[in-house]
Amino acid sequence: MNLAKTPKQHLVHKVFTSIVERYELLNTILSLGQDRYWRMAVAKIADLKSGQMAIDLCTGTGSLAIELVRHIDSGKEDALSVIGIDFCHEMLLKAREKLNNPRYKGRVEFVNGLAEDIPFDDNTFDCATIAFGLRNVESIQQTFSQMQRVVKPGGKIISLELVVPSSKFIQCFYYPYLKWILPNIGRLISKKEIPYQYLSDSISGFMSAGELANIMTLSGLENIRWHNLSGGVAAIHVGYKGSPITPNPLPEAAGV
Ligand SMILES: C[S@@+](CC[C@H](N)C(=O)[O-])C[C@H]1O[C@@H](n2cnc3c(N)ncnc32)[C@H](O)[C@@H]1O
Repeated sequence: MNLAKTPKQHLVHKVFTSIVERYELLNTILSLGQDRYWRMAVAKIADLKSGQMAIDLCTGTGSLAIELVRHIDSGKEDALSVIGIDFCHEMLLKAREKLNNPRYKGRVEFVNGLAEDIPFDDNTFDCATIAFGLRNVESIQQTFSQMQRVVKPGGKIISLELVVPSSKFIQCFYYPYLKWILPNIGRLISKKEIPYQYLSDSISGFMSAGELANIMTLSGLENIRWHNLSGGVAAIHVGYKGSPITPNPLPEAAGV
């Protein structure tokens, strides 16, 4: 079932449906191989323990959901630990292929769902994550509010996102990369025009790490910190529903 309702959701749904086959390869090429390390950093910060549960929004092909489980991999644990949700059926089919690996079977589930209307009860999860999803959702604040709703009191909310780098020096290289290189490589490999133009536009039109932190505050999250990655082209933000149960692993500062 296609859950997209608004014009933006329909566009985003169409974009991701059309690039499923090449999505991971292009991600690796376009992030210069960094995306995997960024997700590993998220899993380290999430620091899921055996018996805990996380939800990964906009899970796509499930890479972060799998990374979260790998972090608690004891080789023995077989309980469900992570649920990945996405509104793109084709992305979820790709994600489910990863469950053929016996290491992940039964420990991760992939479910059709909208980030702005998460199909789970209040106070269900220890942690909620979203990677490269906020740029695509209809409402960032609504998405954070929903993440807050489904985590338990003291639970963690983590976002990994491409942001506008604060350094003017980095911007000198980054904007031409976004404008010329990214859409052209994307077009060449995916043989599709629109998706990578959309991607390029959605990144250059996005916000700084500080602005994203402000939205987290407006959404009611507490103890917000962020960590810049790869010269500030990406950032991991962490916030809590109320006071954190576990100490915040990120240094206390704006844009550390
Ligand atoms: C750039 S991909 C990120 C995938 C994955 N998190 C990763 O790290 O590679 C964005 C994903 O968000 C999904 N998405 C976009 N808007 C959504 C929404 N409102 N609700 C649910 N999923 C959404 C898309 O279908 C796509 O799979």
